[in-house]
Amino acid sequence: MKALVYHGPGERGWDTVDDPTILDPTDAIVRIDTSTICGTDLHILKGDVPETTPGTVLGHEAVGTVQEVGASVTTVSPGDRVLMSCVSSCGRCRFCKEGRYGQCLGGGGWIFGHLINGLQAEYARVPFADNSVYKVPEQLTDEQVLFLADILPTSFEVGVLNGMVSPGDVVAIVGAGPIGLAAILTARLYTPGRIVAIDLADSRLESARRFGADTTINNASEDPIARVMELTEGLGADVAFEAVGVPQTFELATDLIRAGGRVANIGVHGKPAELHLEKLWIRDVTITTGLVDTFSIPQLMRLIASGRLDPSLFATHRFPLGETMSAYDTFADAANSGALKVVLEGANGSSPAAQTERVAATA
Ligand SMILES: NC(=O)c1ccc[n+]([C@@H]2O[C@H](COP(=O)([O-])OP(=O)(O)OC[C@H]3O[C@@H](n4cnc5c(N)ncnc54)[C@H](O)[C@@H]3O)[C@@H](O)[C@H]2O)c1
Ligand SMILES: [Zn+2]
Ligand SMILES: [Zn+2]
Repeated sequence: MKALVYHGPGERGWDTVDDPTILDPTDAIVRIDTSTICGTDLHILKGDVPETTPGTVLGHEAVGTVQEVGASVTTVSPGDRVLMSCVSSCGRCRFCKEGRYGQCLGGGGWIFGHLINGLQAEYARVPFADNSVYKVPEQLTDEQVLFLADILPTSFEVGVLNGMVSPGDVVAIVGAGPIGLAAILTARLYTPGRIVAIDLADSRLESARRFGADTTINNASEDPIARVMELTEGLGADVAFEAVGVPQTFELATDLIRAGGRVANIGVHGKPAELHLEKLWIRDVTITTGLVDTFSIPQLMRLIASGRLDPSLFATHRFPLGETMSAYDTFADAANSGALKVVLEGANGSSPAAQTERVAATA
């Protein structure tokens, strides 16, 4: 089969590799119909994730069709269309039993395209299939559910739920990349009073307005703290999300909130950030951190099915799976291409373009 293979820092290829086979009785083999690329894949390519060894197939977000299941898999069968989560769950360890799949001790957690071969490929081996894949309702296209594999549950669980967004809240979101934008979409489920998006890039702020931000602030040209104070009678936001992953934006998030407010950190940090306890201790603030568990996939999928949540705005570019190399170039050059998420379409995907191509092919 063909797959996007990591060959060490800065090196990738669309290579011919061995087809995956069942290794454990809890595995399934899935044909990838629709996949996508994540900012984390770019981090791996830069060499920021040393656990990922050269030779690993990248990708941790996809929708596909089950081809074969191991002897102990009972809830999915060949032919089922399934969403694969960026986080796998053994279903048996202490943390999986608490719904904290991201912390799985039994071989799950974030493994695809990280510790084992991932999902930017024609086929994939999916461990712990019973606990780790989600059947897709027939009326939903692959593209409608694809972003449930990572960004939507991340922003919902680690941002909105940890930050306890309530009706009427002023929610400040630092960073308007896919994660910040998914935070806007999922915060809106709770009817906040105002959503404020903060980013250095005007193009990202424009997307933020399309996704539902009421106020946008370019912190390269405007003081975000002064503006948020002005909007909140000098008190500060009820909740701030950090959706970048650098020290300055974490510190900014703690400066944006009111007394009794919450900071939900979503960004992945590589360097220490300063925690100004000398200012914060007296202000009754709550700071949360988290790795996504994806326990909210079924809930978010029901919201998509009922038309209450529409992630289709994320899909800015579409490529045939065989052109994954060019898709990486477009995604990595977001400043010029305007890419939010690029959709990779296998021959059998149910995304609109794949369907059009099939219709054209049969006509
Ligand atoms: N906690 C989790 O489980 C989890 C899961 C997935 C991703 N993440 C992390 O979430 C973060 C955001 O992901 P993404 O895919 O949206 O990233 P991204 O790089 O696409 O977007 C980040 C945005 O932040 C903006 N930005 C950069 N520096 C800024 C600054 N100083 N002030 C304001 N804005 C600034 C950029 O212009 C960009 O729009 C990353 O750190 C990612 O690793 C965390
Ligand atoms: Zn990801
Ligand atoms: Zn587990």
